[in-house]
Amino acid sequence: MIPRVILRRLIERHHASSRQVLGMGTVHSQHSYHSEWNKQQQHQSRQKHQVLATLAGAGAGVALWLKYNHQADAATQQSSEDEILEKYGAHRNGLPEYTLDDVSKHSKLEDRVWVSYRHGVYDITDFIAKHPGGEKILLGAGGSVEPFWSLYAVHKSPYVLDLFEEYRIGNLAPDDVGESVRNMDDPYSNEPRRHAALKPSSKKPFNAEPPLILLVDSLITPNELFYVRNHLPVPDIDASTYELEVCDEKSEKEKVLMLKDLKKYPKHTITSTIMCAGNRRSEMTKVKGVKGLSWGQAAIGNAKWSGARLCDVLKDMGIEDGKTDALHVQFEGLDTDPANMPYGASIPIEKALDPHGDVILAYEMNGEPIPRDHGYPVRVIVPGVVGARNVKWLGRIIVSKNESDAHWQQNDYKGFAPNVDWDTVDFKKSPAIQELPVISAICEPLEGESVKVKNGKLKVKGYAWSGGGRKIVRVDVSTDGGKNWQEANVLESDEARHPWAWGWTIWTAEVPVLRGESEAQLCVKAVDSQYNTQPENFENIWNLRGVLANAYHRVNVKLRK
Ligand code: MTE
Repeated sequence: MIPRVILRRLIERHHASSRQVLGMGTVHSQHSYHSEWNKQQQHQSRQKHQVLATLAGAGAGVALWLKYNHQADAATQQSSEDEILEKYGAHRNGLPEYTLDDVSKHSKLEDRVWVSYRHGVYDITDFIAKHPGGEKILLGAGGSVEPFWSLYAVHKSPYVLDLFEEYRIGNLAPDDVGESVRNMDDPYSNEPRRHAALKPSSKKPFNAEPPLILLVDSLITPNELFYVRNHLPVPDIDASTYELEVCDEKSEKEKVLMLKDLKKYPKHTITSTIMCAGNRRSEMTKVKGVKGLSWGQAAIGNAKWSGARLCDVLKDMGIEDGKTDALHVQFEGLDTDPANMPYGASIPIEKALDPHGDVILAYEMNGEPIPRDHGYPVRVIVPGVVGARNVKWLGRIIVSKNESDAHWQQNDYKGFAPNVDWDTVDFKKSPAIQELPVISAICEPLEGESVKVKNGKLKVKGYAWSGGGRKIVRVDVSTDGGKNWQEANVLESDEARHPWAWGWTIWTAEVPVLRGESEAQLCVKAVDSQYNTQPENFENIWNLRGVLANAYHRVNVKLRK
């Protein structure tokens, strides 16, 4: 029998997404952009078309997005929206004309699946056959993908549109062009203000990292300069009405906590580094292209997080080590996609219940309410674990026998062998990344910089960190591409709990350079408390998603006397 909690989730999602397409609001009242969007849509005269159009967005778009999103990310940066609009989905002479009504008759595989984009009508049946596993695409058949692409602007890229044009069968009747997005709000119109120093790798959704040179100025990363990794628009949540649901799938016990309830638990503060699995991807890409945002070395930050311990909250519900046979704790964010699916992830129950695991339901970042971009009002901090599991805008916690079924747990943030490509990859074969491997980077000097040699030595500075609380015990620096090494002189860190460190180490090294040389290749590798160290190069760890990019960091500099 399906547990009530799960059944309710399914029903809720179903209702929410049908409400959404009918323009009747969404499941989380705090999450306002869809409801605004829907309010607008309610006034549309051609509601039937709207329904189909939005479904198309939530289906065809989602499937394409899930498959190609990251390849699209980088490409989008290079092409202006205007160029894209002119080239794709334009009227093509000599093709038959169809109305949105015609398109809506093709919402099932047996009738062939059609969608529209601007002036174009596309039969994507063969795309579905070639890319199985997208039950969502069937939900979305028979309408326009435009509402969807206004949400995932990054996916309206030449790559995706090129692919789309291969399935072109006709032109949309002129009266129907633009109908699906008429009066539709930009879902990104209510994003928070960001510090000008953050360098975006995509603007919608917003993803950005600080300049490397500022990253290691202090052990604690200032909130404004902390990298941002969002997959969806930032929800606008009213802390005074905020509610966090906690459910135990087996006992069907449920609890709803407001922010004030969370604050009644003992306040626990930890220093924890969060790092994106794709940090330093841009270096791996040099070996061979990968799909993903082109992160430099600064998709990492270190902050003090305060909140209630997850194990205390679960203990109150009778969920303790030895008293539950659950295996995972799932987290859902209040940021949802057009099909009303929330961002989600899960962690093993052992980590959640371990009082030494320090998993906290954080409401403060560096002593201030968590900024909107970083999860206001509550996010889970899972120290030592990949950024993707540190779910922001936390809406629901589910104690379960199963991992989260979210895309980001099942079909992303996993590692593969270098020979695996997009035709052979089987996401079920690799476990979801949890604890990250040891990594380090040189932040000063920068690539290509001309640096002054003093007394035959150079000053080099950077960060090092390892997942699972494994403390950094040594950092080795080379000035000759890795032939000779010298230990960093200073290691600065904030120890969480002996012998662990959830936070990073900032290191400084005074390293000798060969006399008479005008150039040097600096390299760094760190060693953690289990004597794990970093691989020498990216060739052997290349993977199609460009994650776990922890080879030696190499920086070429010019030397000045
Ligand atoms: N939580 C929600 N709800 N939505 C998201 O898009 N992104 C995840 C994680 N938590 C994400 C999320 C990823 S991939 C990372 S790396 C971290 O948040 C980034 O946290 P930050 O933006 O605070 O640096």
